[in-house]
Amino acid sequence: MTRTIAVVSQKGGVGKTSLVQNVGAELASLGKRVLLIDFDPQSNLTLGWGLDPNADRPTIYQAMLNPPGALSSVVNLRPNLDLIPANLDLAGAELAFINAIDRNNKLRKVLQHLLGYNFILIDGPPSLGFFTVNALAAVNEALIPLQVQAYAYKALDQLLAIIGQVREINPELWMLGVALTMYDRRNALTGTVEDMARQRLGESVFKTVIPVNVRIAEAPLDGTSVGEYEATSKGAVAYVQLAQEVMERGRAET
Ligand SMILES: Nc1ncnc2c1ncn2[C@@H]1O[C@H](COP(=O)(O)OP(=O)(O)O)[C@@H](O)[C@H]1O
Ligand SMILES: [Mg+2]
Repeated sequence: MTRTIAVVSQKGGVGKTSLVQNVGAELASLGKRVLLIDFDPQSNLTLGWGLDPNADRPTIYQAMLNPPGALSSVVNLRPNLDLIPANLDLAGAELAFINAIDRNNKLRKVLQHLLGYNFILIDGPPSLGFFTVNALAAVNEALIPLQVQAYAYKALDQLLAIIGQVREINPELWMLGVALTMYDRRNALTGTVEDMARQRLGESVFKTVIPVNVRIAEAPLDGTSVGEYEATSKGAVAYVQLAQEVMERGRAET
């Protein structure tokens, strides 16, 4: 059984890509077979693994055009860890599929041809609409990074409404959890925002918080996960714990 997880938020810069890269890397280190999918035309996940999005190779866009050939878009990164990269062509997908009856299920059809993984993690773009709906329609679990700052909730309410709507076409979808990111204890607001999140969302909020940590930002510039970059950094330790929580929360045995 494959656990499929979409990491989504319409806000940019909240830590989606970083979470997919690092939780994915830790799950692979724990011996799970992991596939990451870059589902953002900006291709930050592809770049973060040191790959050139403009290289001449099939991407997630080709896989959406021809789902039975999806395997040809898979790149091996590390033992147990694969990636389907993206490039800017993906930006054309919304228009390309605009008249397709199954336009919201394009990514789901790709996933049907990617077998043998314990986890598939999808890195969504910073928007609601076509890409986020496709990501949520393709998976069983949604994971939302919530940047610990004022007004974080407004965007969350919109996103929860979209998740509710997608459930009509994908009743299997459930909320794996909300991960507090860019957590800065020195900021007086942090405690307040965290308390509100835990009160409002209860058990949905992961115990692990992802601290602000410069190593997390440096690692992808080197094409590595933060665990590979500096295993003892606060950021790396936090992602190990978050990966553990993701494993423990699963409903399905993997
Ligand atoms: N916990 C963190 N501490 C410091 N920098 C971070 C952290 N998480 C992400 N970053 C950096 O912040 C920027 C935005 O993060 P990213 O994961 O790309 O967000 P998103 O995918 O939601 O746009 C990137 O440069 C990333 O390396
Ligand atoms: Mg991103």
